[in-house]
Amino acid sequence: MIELQQFSTKEELDRAAADLVLAVALEALARRGRFLWALSGGGTPQGLYELLVAEPYRSQFPWSESYFFWGDERLVPPDDAGSNFRQAKRAIFDHVEIPAANIQRIPGELPAEWAARAYAGSLALSAGPTEKWPRFDLVLLGLGADGHTASLFPGQTPPPAEPTLAVTADYEDRPSRRVTLTPMILNEARTALFLVTGRSKAAALAAVLAGPADPHSYPAQRIKLREGTTYWFAADGSADELEDAFLAA
Ligand code: 6PG
Repeated sequence: MIELQQFSTKEELDRAAADLVLAVALEALARRGRFLWALSGGGTPQGLYELLVAEPYRSQFPWSESYFFWGDERLVPPDDAGSNFRQAKRAIFDHVEIPAANIQRIPGELPAEWAARAYAGSLALSAGPTEKWPRFDLVLLGLGADGHTASLFPGQTPPPAEPTLAVTADYEDRPSRRVTLTPMILNEARTALFLVTGRSKAAALAAVLAGPADPHSYPAQRIKLREGTTYWFAADGSADELEDAFLAA
């Protein structure tokens, strides 16, 4: 199931995202005793991260039962300005108490293939007793203006049976060597939440949600959960081309 919600401002989107993340976390805790989520990088989730460590979310959030992973990481050391881990550390982990073992970062300081393999190992160790790989309660995702999500980029085909993948891709001025979760893992998540803001994403959002199936060009179309809901939260002009695209489809 896909649910699109549009917000007039980024602040409204952030608040709705924080409400959803908290609700998913509490439900996961009640049902399975822990909350497994994969964070995204990029600038868009920063406001959400900051909200979660402030009231009213902070004291309701099950921090010690939450396990943090990433949908992707840039291959830079963990204290580099381009590191997705560093972003989350500064926005979240520096502000709330989380057991170190609950933070399963992608080791961006390692050579690409090693980092991908090491992360696959962390995933395997976090799987439930009857699972080979963990099922995330939530994967948080962004959308690039080129249609990428996590580090699934246009023109690349992720292997169907590998959980993680090392890729090289240029986007804006960001580090190009990356490790990403593959659709095999992402699509087992129980919930996915895309946060998409800004007019520069409008064409990509319209193509992903209302255009013909073309995951090679718009890799965000590869996200199709086996079960559960994929939320698309859009604000600040990112949904401007959607209506026309739906009408044209
Ligand atoms: C990353 C990402 C990536 C990101 C998009 C959107 O590490 O770069 O996880 O997929 O979500 O590029 O980035 P913005 O939020 O900055 O637009």
